[in-house]
Amino acid sequence: MENVEKVIDEKIQGKALVTENKKENSKKLFIESYGCQMNMNDSEIVAAILDKEGYNTTQILEEADLVLVNTCSIREKAETTVRNRLKKYNAVKKVNKNMKVGVLGCMAERLKEKFLEEEKIVDLVVGPDAYKDLPNLLEEVYEGRDAVNVILSKDETYGDVAPVRLNSNGVSAFVSITRGCDNMCTFCVVPFTRGRERSRDPKSILEEIRQMVDKNFKEITLLGQNVDSYLWYGGGLKKDFKKASEIAQATAVDFAQLLDMCATEFPKTRFRFSTSNPQDMSLDVIYTMAKHKNICKYIHLPVQSGSNKMLKAMNRQHTREEYMELVDNIFKIIPEMALSQDMIVGFCGETEEDHRDTLDLMEYVKYDFGFMFAYSERPGTLAGKKMDDDVPQAIKKRRLQEVIALQQKHSLYRTQQHLGKIEEVLIEGTSKKNPNEWKGRNTQNTVIVFPKEHYKLGDFVNVKVEDCTSATLKGTAVGYSDNN
Ligand code: SAH
Ligand code: F3S
Repeated sequence: MENVEKVIDEKIQGKALVTENKKENSKKLFIESYGCQMNMNDSEIVAAILDKEGYNTTQILEEADLVLVNTCSIREKAETTVRNRLKKYNAVKKVNKNMKVGVLGCMAERLKEKFLEEEKIVDLVVGPDAYKDLPNLLEEVYEGRDAVNVILSKDETYGDVAPVRLNSNGVSAFVSITRGCDNMCTFCVVPFTRGRERSRDPKSILEEIRQMVDKNFKEITLLGQNVDSYLWYGGGLKKDFKKASEIAQATAVDFAQLLDMCATEFPKTRFRFSTSNPQDMSLDVIYTMAKHKNICKYIHLPVQSGSNKMLKAMNRQHTREEYMELVDNIFKIIPEMALSQDMIVGFCGETEEDHRDTLDLMEYVKYDFGFMFAYSERPGTLAGKKMDDDVPQAIKKRRLQEVIALQQKHSLYRTQQHLGKIEEVLIEGTSKKNPNEWKGRNTQNTVIVFPKEHYKLGDFVNVKVEDCTSATLKGTAVGYSDNN
């Protein structure tokens, strides 16, 4: 139970983000990121934009000239966490009076100017598509005015900004490939805070990966709210694709093709991707994964509920049966595939029978990992406006505990399947528990720890799995893998 809860907590924890390249005589930027990996990557884009303006990152809040917090709106708790953080900034500002405070990301987009009224400490409010305007906005702030830009864009993908890597292990990095989401799940605030879906030019994606590979990065995670929906046809919104010229349509690049391009051009680099929406996942993607050893055999495939009634109310565009068929096909093509889920319990109108359908679907798939949440009503969403948040808190809590306990059981079942096997692991850092052990992941994304011996950070090593908990494998290295 503890591990799964830890995973949930990590999703909403903030981090002071720093880079190693320090320039002299610079202003100091303290930047923290809450929420998803996309926010983390956006913070790297922001750091790159502000690097050009003479800002160095710092880990010490008290010495910052500028404090930026990249925020998450996905659940109420995520917003409360940020509000509490602002109180801490407030205390520091009483001493460091010149410090400026800016709010970035989804809460900025959701609350807009209201943020300035509600939180007096805030000088600057910037939505996810407006980061290039930061230099101008900061100028206004330094002239003594509050500054806001929350305009969502049809084409901003930050394709021309090379992110400054923050808190990097020098081994794995994120590269964004799409922005926004068109799926309009009724519970979800993302389409409102991150706008319509658009894809980034494959050339600029490959160029960014090349830069990372040249710097010795070994693993790239392609990021988007809904990566399987990736479609490049020369720019513009996904929803306008049908209006594009015949040539643009004929030469368009979809997600399976993009993956194939990445894996072919960088055969020694591991590729992962997140997140997949089942309704947009094509079998071409699975065949492409099967074709390339360097595409990791792991899919985060959120389902949210196992009940057809709930899936419909959530506006997920597939049924429980269609999802099960997709899972069957995935295991048929790649038997060693690892799958993980996001699950929401206690959505509007959820009965015990619906809840049992969720447990039953989990039993069918036996996911390797899971991220499980109690439904949290979000203002502005269809569910927030039109549906009754009618499942009592105590029942949500009990159902959440049940899905977490079941996931725990399945995670253990899955980790046990690795016992006795020799698996390729990319070394990503020192184990938190033991400084003499490395930590890395196998292709399935399962964390594995093993004695360091002579191996180094960034090595691909074959590790014999000898023991496991539900979250971690333990083993001993038996030699380098042929990927080095
Ligand atoms: N496609 C996105 C999904 C973002 S939201 C991605 O890249 O991961 C992440 C997860 O948060 C969702 O899959 C869902 O399980 C959960 N979530 C979203 N809105 C929620 C809400 N209102 N209450 C509880 N959980 C929610
Ligand atoms: Fe949210 Fe559904 Fe998109 S969960 S991010 S609206 S796929």
